[in-house]
Amino acid sequence: MSSTMSLHDRVALVTGAADGIGAAVARTLAAAGATVVVTDLGSQTAKAEAVLADIGARGGRAEFVALDVGDERHWQEAMAGIERRHGGLDVLVNNAGVVLVKPLEEISLDELRWISRTNIEGVFLGIRSALPLMKPRAARRDAGGSIVNFSSAMGIKGYPFGSLYSMTKGAIRLLSKSLALEFAQLGYNIRVNSVHPGLVDTTMVARETEKLSQLGVMGTRTPQEMRQAFERLNPLGRLGSTQEIANAVLFLASDLSTFVNGAEMTVDGGETAQ
Ligand SMILES: NC(=O)c1ccc[n+]([C@@H]2O[C@H](COP(=O)([O-])OP(=O)(O)OC[C@H]3O[C@@H](n4cnc5c(N)ncnc54)[C@H](O)[C@@H]3O)[C@@H](O)[C@H]2O)c1
Repeated sequence: MSSTMSLHDRVALVTGAADGIGAAVARTLAAAGATVVVTDLGSQTAKAEAVLADIGARGGRAEFVALDVGDERHWQEAMAGIERRHGGLDVLVNNAGVVLVKPLEEISLDELRWISRTNIEGVFLGIRSALPLMKPRAARRDAGGSIVNFSSAMGIKGYPFGSLYSMTKGAIRLLSKSLALEFAQLGYNIRVNSVHPGLVDTTMVARETEKLSQLGVMGTRTPQEMRQAFERLNPLGRLGSTQEIANAVLFLASDLSTFVNGAEMTVDGGETAQ
């Protein structure tokens, strides 16, 4: 078994990769030598182009494919294109996600369907669509394929006002473990793991910090106070960076983790250890 982080000769697809953690993952996998298929909603094309430019400037290889993870047809088209251009897929990172912060009594059934569409259906469709391209390559390579699904610290612990988000992320935690076992039993040589970030400095968190402070959560009144309260709650006293999460994904995608399967990798400064 190899002992390198290199992703040379690998093709990796990252969802929701125009912004936030996904963009850092795309840059990091490309820096390790992978050809990266950067995917995100069509409305995020300008941001995705900036990620491609960044990767290109560092000598990496990447392309953009518009892909709404909740749309099965998008997945089929994306996979047909990847098969034509690259002949297969080695790494799938299901990063795209949306968040909902609200008291349960104000949540509508439509909102439950909305969050499930991206956070649950998107991951299911991604894995099912990618398998036909991943299986032949994984069978030919000792190190096999790797699927990394984004859960959250909130997929392990409950948090007030985050019930539906926690529900979707908890689902991804056990989907990952079950598929890790299923694919092992079927002899696919494709590992499945979940990543559980704590709070990370992204647009998602900036937006939600504002809403939580409006709800007066933990006695806070402003987004700044809310952010400081979150920092105090974390054992390391801070939020994480997108790069710190991307480093964990690189490990799970690479040959350094060939015996890591069905694991829930917390990258949260110790938040869930409390
Ligand atoms: N930021 C955090 O603190 C944090 C903590 C734990 C887990 N996470 C998880 O990490 C992942 C990335 O979060 P982030 O903070 O970078 O979010 P973000 O909002 O900054 O970026 C998410 C990206 O996903 C894209 N996206 C949304 N819906 C999509 C869809 N239907 N199809 C394709 N792309 C879609 C968005 O356009 C955006 O580019 C998510 O799954 C999130 O739940 C984030």
